[in-house]
Amino acid sequence: MPNSMLLVLIQVLVLCSCVSVVSSTISPCAKWNTTGSTVAGTGDAGNSSYQINSAKGIFIHKERNELYVADFSNNRVQRFSLNDPSKMGTTVASNIENPMKVYVDDDINGPTVYVSLRFLNRVEKWTYGARQGVQVGNDCQLCCGVSVDKEKNVYMSESNRHRVLQWSPRTNITNIVAGNTDTNGSKSTLLDHPQGIYVNRDGGVVYVADMWNSRIQSWIQGSDEGVTVAGSSKGTEGHDPETLDFPNDMIVDDETNIVYVIDTSNNRVQRWKPFASEGDTIAGDMSAGNATYQLSKPAGLGFDMKGNLYVMDMENNRVQMFELIDNRPCSLRLESNGSSKLG
Ligand SMILES: *[C@@H]1O[C@H](CO)[C@@H](O)[C@H](O)[C@H]1NC(C)=O
Ligand SMILES: *[C@@H]1O[C@H](CO)[C@@H](O)[C@H](O)[C@H]1NC(C)=O
Ligand SMILES: *[C@@H]1O[C@H](CO)[C@@H](O)[C@H](O)[C@H]1NC(C)=O
Ligand SMILES: *[C@@H]1O[C@H](CO)[C@@H](O)[C@H](O)[C@H]1NC(C)=O
Ligand SMILES: *[C@@H]1O[C@H](CO)[C@@H](O)[C@H](O)[C@H]1NC(C)=O
Ligand SMILES: *[C@@H]1O[C@H](CO)[C@@H](O)[C@H](O)[C@H]1NC(C)=O
Repeated sequence: MPNSMLLVLIQVLVLCSCVSVVSSTISPCAKWNTTGSTVAGTGDAGNSSYQINSAKGIFIHKERNELYVADFSNNRVQRFSLNDPSKMGTTVASNIENPMKVYVDDDINGPTVYVSLRFLNRVEKWTYGARQGVQVGNDCQLCCGVSVDKEKNVYMSESNRHRVLQWSPRTNITNIVAGNTDTNGSKSTLLDHPQGIYVNRDGGVVYVADMWNSRIQSWIQGSDEGVTVAGSSKGTEGHDPETLDFPNDMIVDDETNIVYVIDTSNNRVQRWKPFASEGDTIAGDMSAGNATYQLSKPAGLGFDMKGNLYVMDMENNRVQMFELIDNRPCSLRLESNGSSKLG
């Protein structure tokens, strides 16, 4: 065989081992400015319209370019327009107790807010302009994560009972979709104090921040066990690229399946590619502090339409934005041993 043909053959083989993801909005090789800027909150805890207090959850409504904050100690959900430089918040749910996480869905009337209330043990739905919320589904003990799929099924994590529930508006029935009721541990069938959850739009996969196991688990609908997609599957915490330390939340890119993790006790945001055995840091430098490159107990995250990253910087009482500065397309090459590498 002539050398040139061999070369073509090798090139074809190399190309075939690549999964092209050039169409994704956020490239698997994306880089963000590691210097953040504050888009909500002042750094000091307070209850004015431009302050927040110990907030733990955020949601970015991409089309409206709005930021929603579950303002834990102020017992409210605040909405900030990211187009408005004044950074003044508007209260869209008030007189609620200790909201943990928030999810916003579009309904005919406008954006509908779903909020988990930690000590009232429930998720409430606030339709646009409502003065009161209504409970959806069964009770949710030490309720934390909340997410909604395109059929408007509502998912909630019941931290104290180590499971994730799904409520169907069609049947008004609440089912268990992840974990084993009242049993915690690090086996693949178990969760230990689940926190934030992310459900892909079609509802096929539930991702869970399995906090006390320092790992992120993915549960395919109907499965009785989870698969570790970030952190150590054994449930051991750590401070290196292979491990996480009490992760509180994550977002998964539905196109690339890349998992963006809030690695809370390591004060950083990690990116884990599919089948990777380690993650890389995209924000925070692991030291807790209030400098522009630091985070202090981050608790939630989101991306806007342009791919900019937003982080709920809990102990600093501020929401930081890290600008997407390099979005050159690249492909994820899957290694034969199952790990992934940038091509
Ligand atoms: C990152 O942001 C800082 C502050 O806004 C700015 O001074 C710096 O030039 C930015 N870096 C890059 C690489 O864009
Ligand atoms: C940042 O932290 C320093 C030292 O802990 C403190 O003196 C300062 O007030 C803080 N700044 C803000 C904006 O909270
Ligand atoms: C807001 O905070 C101030 C003091 O910081 C307090 O006096 C006031 O009662 C608070 N308002 C509400 C509605 O909690
Ligand atoms: C849905 O189920 C809840 C709890 O079982 C019940 O209280 C509620 O009345 C039901 N709603 C409807 C519309 O049937
Ligand atoms: C289960 O959670 C309890 C606290 O609620 C904790 O003390 C215990 O260590 C956990 N068990 C396992 C196996 O992780
Ligand atoms: C998989 O292979 C890559 C490159 O050949 C290597 O760097 C990596 O350590 C391997 N991963 C595992 C889990 O064996």
